[in-house]
Amino acid sequence: MEQGEEQGYRNIVEKLNSRFKKYGPEEIIRYFLAEFEGKVAISSSMGIEDQVLTDMAVKINPEVKIFTLDTGRLFPETYDLIRKTNGYYGVKIQVYFPESGDVEAMVNEKGINLFYESIEYRKQCCHVRKLKPLSRALKPLDAWICGLRTEQSVTRILTRHVEWDEKNGLIKVNPLSEWLGKDIWDYVHKHNVPYNPLHDQGFPSIGCQPCTRAVKPGEDLRAGRWWWEQPEQKECGLHRK
Ligand code: ADX
Ligand code: SF4
Repeated sequence: MEQGEEQGYRNIVEKLNSRFKKYGPEEIIRYFLAEFEGKVAISSSMGIEDQVLTDMAVKINPEVKIFTLDTGRLFPETYDLIRKTNGYYGVKIQVYFPESGDVEAMVNEKGINLFYESIEYRKQCCHVRKLKPLSRALKPLDAWICGLRTEQSVTRILTRHVEWDEKNGLIKVNPLSEWLGKDIWDYVHKHNVPYNPLHDQGFPSIGCQPCTRAVKPGEDLRAGRWWWEQPEQKECGLHRK
């Protein structure tokens, strides 16, 4: 992307954040589905925030693009929710896989569960299984819609409704950034949104099976992610380093 073009996008981001100050998530989604038609998609981990986004978006435009990154290490409940969500909303969530050669080279050299060995290996696994497929998914897009919320962790406190995603070179939209957990669950119950049963078993945040555990009462929402790592990381590079 040319420097002038990027500066243009940064200006748009600033203007939209001022404009969206009084907007609710649905209005933000409505704006992007209309203004970025065919060039915007929901990036869904199938977690509770993303199910809310899907529900809102499908009601605005049933043709909305939704994609998910299948790392090959997800919980069985997550796969079942992909199937269920497709049926419930009449959508076809696009599934992106890692390159088979990348996965084979990595696990044959470093072990099938290499992520427990070191932070470096864990980051390599996230790179191969999530970040590379994400780049592929984002290539045709000008904006992606995510379920990030400021409340989720200290690493997400600065999350804004609209951001310039420098790494991937497109606009990132976080319509739920200001919602609290209570707002999410009120919406889910009011609109009968299908969700992962693991949320009711102590998993506020659900990622790959070997890298996610339930949290104890009072623990941080993301305490169950890569819980063995010291110093704590809590991000895989999809959003922050
Ligand atoms: S992660 O960086 O730790 O994996 P988290 O699970 O909190 O992220 O999800 C934050 C947002 O990132 C989700 O709301 C979703 O927009 C996006 N996301 C995370 N995992 C995936 C995935 N597997 N496929 C698509 N989008 C994802
Ligand atoms: Fe690999 Fe764990 Fe990252 Fe999933 S979360 S891609 S299994 S290191």
